[in-house]
Amino acid sequence: MSTKKEIIFSGIQPSGNLHLGNYLGAIQQWVDMQKRLSPEDTLIFCIVDLHAITVYQDPKILRQKIREVAAMYLACGIDPKNAHIFVQSENPDHTYLSWVLDCVVPYGQMLRMTQFKDKSQKQQEGTTVGLFNYPALMAADILLYDTTTVPVGEDQKQHIELTRDVAEKFNSMYGETFVLPKDQIDTSAARIMSLQNPLSKMSKSDADPFGSIYLLDEPDEMIKKLKRAVTDSGSAVSSENLSPALTNLISIFGKVTNRSFEQVLKTCEGLSYGAFKTQLGEAVVAKFEPIQKKYRALLEESGELDRILDQGCAAVSVYSSAKIQVVKERVGLGR
Ligand code: AMP
Ligand code: TRP
Repeated sequence: MSTKKEIIFSGIQPSGNLHLGNYLGAIQQWVDMQKRLSPEDTLIFCIVDLHAITVYQDPKILRQKIREVAAMYLACGIDPKNAHIFVQSENPDHTYLSWVLDCVVPYGQMLRMTQFKDKSQKQQEGTTVGLFNYPALMAADILLYDTTTVPVGEDQKQHIELTRDVAEKFNSMYGETFVLPKDQIDTSAARIMSLQNPLSKMSKSDADPFGSIYLLDEPDEMIKKLKRAVTDSGSAVSSENLSPALTNLISIFGKVTNRSFEQVLKTCEGLSYGAFKTQLGEAVVAKFEPIQKKYRALLEESGELDRILDQGCAAVSVYSSAKIQVVKERVGLGR
C-alpha cells in the first residue's frame, strides 16, 4: 500500500447467499488489504441492505441475511480492530447524500448503466425507481467517507466510474467537497463464472443451484457441484486447449490455494477432468471448512456481533455526519 493515507470502502448486498464470486472477487481482497494496512489507513466494510431492497426481499429473511453477511465478513478474516463494519441503513447519512447526488447525476448517464439494463430486463414490470437510482446510493456510500479505493469485482467498475463523475461534477458546481475514488479489481478473480454456464457470472440470483458454490454449502455439496461443473469436449487438462469453463475452474483453484493460474496449470497438466475436479473440490472444502466453523460460532454468540456492528456504525457516523454538514453548506440546504 502506498505511503499516502488510504480510505477503503466496500460492501455486499444481504440479498441472498454469499458465493465463491463474492469471496474471491471482493472479500479475499479486503482481507489481503487489511494485512498490508498502514496505521493511518481506514477500512470500512458495509452490509448494504438499502441496496438489497431495490429488488423485493422478504423482510424476515432480509433481517437474517444482514446478520449472516456481517458474520461472514468476520469469519473470513475481517478484524473489527482494523476495520469498521456496519449496516448501511443504520446510518441515515447514506440516504441523505444519495438524494443530493440524485440531483447531480445526469439522467442520460444513469440510463447507460449496464447492471440496470440487465436487472430491469429480469424484473420487467417489477423494476422500481430505486433499482434505477441504485448507483447514486452507491456513490453516496463511497463519497461520504473521502474513500480513495474501492475493492470490488469487475461488474462494479462502471458504478465507480459514475461515482468519480458525480464527485467531479459536484465539486465543479459547488466547490471542492469530494475525493475522487478509484476501483481496485483483482484481475485474477474479477469475474468468477457460473459452474454451469461459463459465459454468465456466478451470481446470488442464479436459478440453477449447481451454478454457484455458496460459502455455507456443506462440504459434500461443494464437491458434488464441482464434479458436475461443465468443462468441454476434452478429457484432460491441457494448456493447448483452454475452454472458458476450464479457465474458470483453474482460476478458482489458483485463488483458493494461493497460486497463480500458470502454477496450477503446470501442476495439473495432463490430469483427467475427473481427477482435476476431485483435487479442486478438496481444496475448496479445505478453504471454507474453517471459515464455516468460525461463522457458526459467531452467530451463536450474537451479542458480540451486535457490539461490533454498533461500534462500526458509531465510528463511521462521525465521518459521514461531518461530510453531510459540508454538503448542506455547499448546496445551501437548511438555514
Ligand atoms: P453483490 O453480490 O452484487 O452484492 O456483490 C458483492 C461484491 O462481490 C462486489 O464487489 C462484486 O463485484 C463481487 N462479485 C459478485 N459476483 C462476482 C463474481 N461472479 N466474480 C467476482 N466478483 C463478484
Ligand atoms: N453495488 C455493489 C454490488 O452490488 C454493492 C455496493 C453498494 C458497494 N455500495 C457500495 C460496493 C460501495 C462498493 C462500494 O456489488
